[in-house]
Amino acid sequence: MFEEVLYKSLEKLSSPHSLLEAMNYSLQAGGKRLRPLLLFATLYGFKKNPVLGLQVATSLEMVHTYSLIHDDLPSMDDDDLRRGKPTNHKVFGEAHAVLAGDALLTYSFQLLADLNHEEITNEMKIKLIKLLSVSAGPEGMVGGQIADLEGENQSLSINELEYIHTRKTGRLLEYSILAGAILANATDQQINHLRGFAHHLGLAFQIRDDILDVEGTEEEIGKPVGSDENNHKSTYPALLTLDGAKRKLAEHINLAKQSLSLVENMDQSYLEDICNLIAERNN
Ligand code: IPE
Ligand code: IPE
Ligand code: MG
Ligand code: MG
Ligand code: MG
Repeated sequence: MFEEVLYKSLEKLSSPHSLLEAMNYSLQAGGKRLRPLLLFATLYGFKKNPVLGLQVATSLEMVHTYSLIHDDLPSMDDDDLRRGKPTNHKVFGEAHAVLAGDALLTYSFQLLADLNHEEITNEMKIKLIKLLSVSAGPEGMVGGQIADLEGENQSLSINELEYIHTRKTGRLLEYSILAGAILANATDQQINHLRGFAHHLGLAFQIRDDILDVEGTEEEIGKPVGSDENNHKSTYPALLTLDGAKRKLAEHINLAKQSLSLVENMDQSYLEDICNLIAERNN
């Protein structure tokens, strides 16, 4: 259902064909859809029908996909493979890739403003719009991406690295969970514990990403192996060795589960499953 809503949402647009083609290309290239899954698992945990979150998940996956298109650009990580396919700029050229990313980002906010469901109040919409802006913007993902680029060829401390990871990756994962909590009218206390859960989950996710960049296979991860080393990035494996990074990953998975168990009146089972998936994933 999610895939269908995602693809249909582009069909509604009357935009230049080449732009739609570039947007569609990256959206349809696949991807784990982890952020939508987190949103649906949170709704499920609060006994809400995940269908309530379909359009919010669409908007979220668009922001994520835009970030990948831009992350791969020659001026950033300069990668030529994503989701098992040539990167957007390799197929459509840099200008189209930049604009396809811009369009996905902007359209995602239009989708939030257009939410139309009897259970979704205007107050919820404004909360979602604000939280997505904060999570993806200068204090969130984009801030983390800049710190990541400026950290190339530097030897960062573990605290500096944690600063980067929590922002470039953690904030959007946190939004995925909190968006579900907002739609389910969760209490402040529930939201605070979910925020703690998301913090550790986000770090664990990026640590696993950094590990796979070293010991994964291109076939499984669908992106080039060794990209971080080529770009002289600071990563957990570079700082702590591969074994140290794996220990750190296990630590954050445990802390994530501890925070999750503190959320009252929630069925945490699917979120816990996703936690295990993140710890062990090979793609
Ligand atoms: C990749 O995210 C970018 C990072 C934040 C590490 P994913 O690993 O979720 O990418 P897709 O969506 O499955 O392609
Ligand atoms: C990117 O981190 C995070 C964002 C795209 C915001 P990486 O640069 O490690 O992601 P991959 O490995 O290219 O997917
Ligand atoms: Mg990057
Ligand atoms: Mg990258
Ligand atoms: Mg990576």
